[in-house]
Amino acid sequence: MEEQIQELKVRRGAIVIAHNYQVDEVQAIADFTGDSLELSRKAAQLREEVVVFCGVHFMAETAAILSPDKTILIPDPNAGCPMADMVTADKLRALKAQHPGAKVVCYVNSSAEVKAESDICCTSSNAVKVCESLGDVEIIFVPDRNLGAFVAEKLGREFILYNGFCPTHERIRDIDVLAMKAQYPGALVLAHPECNKPVRDLADELLSTGQMCHFATASENREFIIATELGINYRLRTENPGKRFYPVNPDRAVCPNMKKITVEKILWSLQDMKQRVTVPANIAARAVGCIERMLEIS
Ligand code: 13P
Ligand code: SF4
Repeated sequence: MEEQIQELKVRRGAIVIAHNYQVDEVQAIADFTGDSLELSRKAAQLREEVVVFCGVHFMAETAAILSPDKTILIPDPNAGCPMADMVTADKLRALKAQHPGAKVVCYVNSSAEVKAESDICCTSSNAVKVCESLGDVEIIFVPDRNLGAFVAEKLGREFILYNGFCPTHERIRDIDVLAMKAQYPGALVLAHPECNKPVRDLADELLSTGQMCHFATASENREFIIATELGINYRLRTENPGKRFYPVNPDRAVCPNMKKITVEKILWSLQDMKQRVTVPANIAARAVGCIERMLEIS
C-alpha cells in the first residue's frame, strides 16, 4: 500500500499531512506531521494541488478555507470532533446576544459556521497570546471550557466560558497522573490544556502536542509522563530515542475519531480522489478572517 500511495502522490501532485494523534503507521507515511497550528500554517502555504488531510473534519475544513483552490481530501469524512460539535452557530449567536460588547475567541476545534461568527480563532499553542492580543475586553471563549479556563487563569482574568470539552482528555484523571508520578518520581508531567483542572494542577508543563515534542527534545530531563491522546507518543519516541515517555491511561486516552484514518483509506482517497472537503463560499468568506488574524499574531 505504501508503494501505491507514493506512486499516486506523484501522479496526483499530492501531499499527505497528519495530526500528531494519528495512528503510528499513518504518521510514518505522512509527508508532514504537526499540531493544529502547524497544520493550519502548512495549509496556508501549500504548493501541492491535492492534500490528503489525516486528521478530523474541522482540520480539513480549516485547510479548505485557507486554500480554496486546492483539493482537500479527508480519508474518512466521519472522523469528526465531538468537542467541535458541542457548539453551533445558533448557540453562539444566542450567547453573543447576551453579551453584546464581548469578543469571541473560538478554538480551532469548531465548525466553519462557528468560525464565521467569531472574532478570532486560536489553537492550544497560541490561545494565551491570542486572548492577550484582544486587550481588556470581555471574552467569550468557545467551545473548550478547559482550554478557556487555562488561559483565563494564566492571564488572571474571567472569561465567559462555553461548556464544551474533549471526551478523550476528560478520561485522563488526576488519580491516574498521581499513580504515574509515584511510579516514576523523576519524570516531568507534560499535560495538554484540554485536560481538566485537577490534571492541569499536577502538570509541570501545559503544552500543545507540537510544543510537547519541542519541549521533550530541548529538556535535560530524560523521563516524561504524557497526559494527552496516545498518538503523540509515536513522535515523542521517534524523535527522542534516548528518552522515556509514559502515557497516562494508554487504553482510555484514545480519540476514536482520529483513529478512523488508516493507511488503506489514504490509498482509497488518492485512488478515487475522495472525500473532498469544501466550505460554502459565503461561510468561508466570513470564517477566513478569523483564522488569518490568528496566523498573523502567532
Ligand atoms: P494540538 O495538536 O493543537 O495540541 O490539538 C490537540 C487536539 O485535540 C486536536 O484535536
Ligand atoms: Fe476532538 Fe478531543 Fe479528538 Fe481532539 S482529541 S479531535 S479535541 S475529541
